Amino acid sequence: MKYHLTFEPEKKTVEVEKGTTILEAAMNNNIVMRHYCGGNLQCTTYRVIIRNGKENLSPMAEKEKAALQGKAYLNYRLSCQAKIYGDVTVFVATSSLLD
Ligand code: FES
Repeated sequence: MKYHLTFEPEKKTVEVEKGTTILEAAMNNNIVMRHYCGGNLQCTTYRVIIRNGKENLSPMAEKEKAALQGKAYLNYRLSCQAKIYGDVTVFVATSSLLD
């Protein structure tokens, strides 16, 4: 089953397989993001804000919550940790994009 993931502010929507991380979906669709540690929760470089579909993401583990340093309540997620299980819209800060 495929779901829709929309990246704001560009409003680019891509189709993703169930269980794909936001980072994997970005990389598979030529949206090149910072991800220095390879998803090991060491760099927290690619944060996104969940605009819609928060309930369609994998639950946040304690390690991710700790890595976000108190920003979890602001709907931040680490793209390398959040897996997609339904339609989701995320806002990507330009600081998360590679130049
Ligand atoms: S890629 Fe480093 S924490 Fe996600």
